[in-house]
Amino acid sequence: MNDSTTATARMFSSDNAAGASPEIVEAVVRAAAGQAPPYGSDDVTAGVRRRLGEIFERDVDVLIVSTGSAANALGLAALTPPWGSVLCHRDSHINNDECGAPEFYTAGAKLVALGGDDARIDPDELRAAVRHKAGDVHSVEPSVVSVTQATETGAVYTAEELRALGSTVKEAGLRLHMDGARFAGAVAALDATPADLTWRAGVDLLSFGATKNGTMTAEAIVVFDRSLTAELSFRAKRAGQLASKMRFHAAQLEAYLTDGLWLRNAAHANAMAARLQEGLKAVPGVDLLGSAEANILFCRLPQQVTQGLLADGYVFYHDRWEPGVVRFVASFATTAQDIDGLLEAVRRHTA
Ligand SMILES: Cc1ncc(COP(=O)(O)O)c(C=O)c1O
Repeated sequence: MNDSTTATARMFSSDNAAGASPEIVEAVVRAAAGQAPPYGSDDVTAGVRRRLGEIFERDVDVLIVSTGSAANALGLAALTPPWGSVLCHRDSHINNDECGAPEFYTAGAKLVALGGDDARIDPDELRAAVRHKAGDVHSVEPSVVSVTQATETGAVYTAEELRALGSTVKEAGLRLHMDGARFAGAVAALDATPADLTWRAGVDLLSFGATKNGTMTAEAIVVFDRSLTAELSFRAKRAGQLASKMRFHAAQLEAYLTDGLWLRNAAHANAMAARLQEGLKAVPGVDLLGSAEANILFCRLPQQVTQGLLADGYVFYHDRWEPGVVRFVASFATTAQDIDGLLEAVRRHTA
């Protein structure tokens, strides 16, 4: 490790490597005082539901859970029968990174992987898939479409793109799920409201991520189709996702949603990825892949640069998707100095 740059953070593998926003840590400390009703019957949990209702401009139900995988798997289970299929992108987290939890929680629904650039589902492929073998008792029944916003490669769906996908989904009688592990990043990147990016485009249920963007252990399932709530509540308890001391999860989300912290954090993470993208453009031999609209950047680096960065102590995914392809993820806690330190190292190993 090169000690001259130890002041800069070097972990670009995931936004999960970041800590938590001080406002959120302080809120948890405040929540520790006194008694409160357990299992989500407390005032802070009620306040989070109200606040999300304001943000989404309509009444919503909210279930607070501790991981994004739980939010996705529980949500999908409420949206599809066991004989259904979940249409998703082939690079989606639910398809690749949840250890079969969606299949397990849905009691065996099948994930059907579709293509499309930048981990966005291709609209033509979707149009064919929503009707594929529909009503054929020998096949799984197309039941729900899951989109990730922002996507696994750091791209975003515009509100218009979502409306178009949503009408394909609804015309075919399917449900629409959104994995919003980085939903804040998408809102910060787009000139669109949370409502336009979700229920106004047909989204029935959103996994509203927060842990990657400043909370410690709290994610929310935001339910737009409130007929799903009773079933989801039983499913959450059965899955061990109804926290007895829910107020601690709720306190994190309350602080996250206060005074725009969630959007400030996300805008900062996006800006750091954009700074990295700008800097890398000028380095010979570096190929940017796609464009970092949110906080994730993919690029192709010469092997000696990747090896040099690893030797410097940088941590990032490499050669996981294709040889030479690396992924850098910025977070709310990434500083401009962190990015400039990384850029300096890339230039040094390129020379
Ligand atoms: C797109 C996406 N969805 C969901 C998740 C949630 O994952 P976890 O269960 O680790 O909180 C992640 C985390 O990496 C993610 O990147």
